[in-house]
Amino acid sequence: MAEQAASAPKKVRTRHFQNAKESGIKITGLTSYDMLTASIFDEAGIDFLLVGDSAANNVLGYDTTLPVTIDELIPLTRAVAGAVKRAFVVADMPFGSYETGPDEALHTAFRFMKETGAHAVKLEGGVRSAEQIRRIVSAGIPVMAHIGFTPQSEHGLGGHVIQGRGDQVAQLLADAHAVEDAGAFAVVLEMVPAEAARQVTDELRIPTISVGAGPHTNGQLLVWTDWAGFTGGRIPKFVKQYANLRKTLTDAVIAYREDVDSGAYPGPEHSYED
Ligand code: KIV
Repeated sequence: MAEQAASAPKKVRTRHFQNAKESGIKITGLTSYDMLTASIFDEAGIDFLLVGDSAANNVLGYDTTLPVTIDELIPLTRAVAGAVKRAFVVADMPFGSYETGPDEALHTAFRFMKETGAHAVKLEGGVRSAEQIRRIVSAGIPVMAHIGFTPQSEHGLGGHVIQGRGDQVAQLLADAHAVEDAGAFAVVLEMVPAEAARQVTDELRIPTISVGAGPHTNGQLLVWTDWAGFTGGRIPKFVKQYANLRKTLTDAVIAYREDVDSGAYPGPEHSYED
């Protein structure tokens, strides 16, 4: 969206997601959990920033996204929303904050909208979350849906398993139509075969955003710490790493430690005179 200078919006709104789908312009998204990365990604023209519950793994040190709470995500979301000028900010609703029904879901969405300055909320689930989406949307709050592999259900799904293969494509399509009918303005497809994602994208009016769902969707989203090579350990196959921040920082910290050990830092240029 940002590359199409003539039509690039000053501030991204939900209608720009729809316009992008209709005119074949790709939508770009990254996660962000703090004001420094948010301002860099915003200035570079990323269309939307997701303050994902993946902050559980990438900021707070939990093994899964299940433990993270609304109260833990709110300050991170406020920092991101406060740092952007153009990008659309989506607040992720954590596990246990919407599943009991539409009232709970709306209450959680109100908290994110009132306390953070985010522009929309995201929640996981297709058919099973449709009533929650409908209620939030009816209160004037945009909802980004999330189907395919949904990390909050990783134990129910048997781990990080690709969704929508073979016979499962019928369920994927049912989920996609359910969230569109409920009023979602966009839907994230996570870890879905590329051809299944193409079928969903062709059938839906709303834009589809891929996280490991191949090239045929209307946009792409990645977890920034994976994308920038900051995360240690195994990275999913679908991630292309655009930097190696972990190595850059490791080299820097070793150089700093060695300079302090040897007395090379601080030098006269880093010291105050009388
Ligand atoms: O929390 C997150 O980062 C997400 C994306 C992987 C879609 O939900």
